Amino acid sequence: MDYGFTVIGNWKMHKTAREAVAFLETLIPQGKGSLVNICIAVPYTSIAVAAAAAKNSSIVIGAENMQEEGGGAFTGEVSGVMLREAGASFVLLGHSERRNLFGETEAQIEKKLQRALVCDLTPILCIGESLEEREAEETEKTLRKQLDSALRNLPPEMCGKIFIAYEPLWAIGTGLCADAETAQRAHAWIRKCLERYFGKEAALIPILYGGSVKPENAAQLALQQDINGLLVGGASLDASSFLSIINQVSGKKKI
Ligand code: PGA
Repeated sequence: MDYGFTVIGNWKMHKTAREAVAFLETLIPQGKGSLVNICIAVPYTSIAVAAAAAKNSSIVIGAENMQEEGGGAFTGEVSGVMLREAGASFVLLGHSERRNLFGETEAQIEKKLQRALVCDLTPILCIGESLEEREAEETEKTLRKQLDSALRNLPPEMCGKIFIAYEPLWAIGTGLCADAETAQRAHAWIRKCLERYFGKEAALIPILYGGSVKPENAAQLALQQDINGLLVGGASLDASSFLSIINQVSGKKKI
């Protein structure tokens, strides 16, 4: 994955393999020549077919989760090596639905991040505060804690291989997108934290915004200095709204 402006679709538990291919057959010709890095995180069962369908295009396919262990007796789990071989190039890690619905811990997320790097998968580390934390003015503390636990043991030379996605919980799936200024403030704080770990190299880490991104708010978000991409849930399920977001942010500066 390179470092242009990146738009990642997160399909969650939507679309069968057949539906994934049909979506890509629409997206690929229309997204051709886009300056935006177009990526889609798809359910496990669609990775191989989606990667095959996207093979001769610039669209990048990834996974939504990964088991932190490399292999073994973990019934129902999927390893990083399996994802890579199936055709995934990146993996979402620590999405708030994984943290809150499936009890993923900070320790697991850190392990997953390290494992993803070993498997040559680009980790997209998702962080974000709850509404209660925002109201208690604990947004910065929460973001720093999540970054600290995931990144404290990351060798500095690996920092060029990760992405961060800022997804405030109150904005995910609610229709309440953070306004561009609020999002930029959080992104600037994240950048500051990253500088503490990685110095100047932190400027190279793409920070994506996610949470109710739609064609109507994408351009304004993309204009913000520290917003280097978008993570799109609901609006990525329909090829025309996903393309409309991509078109809204085309021509956005590179970092
Ligand atoms: P949403 O989801 O765009 O539907 O709010 C974003 C996400 O969960 O990644």
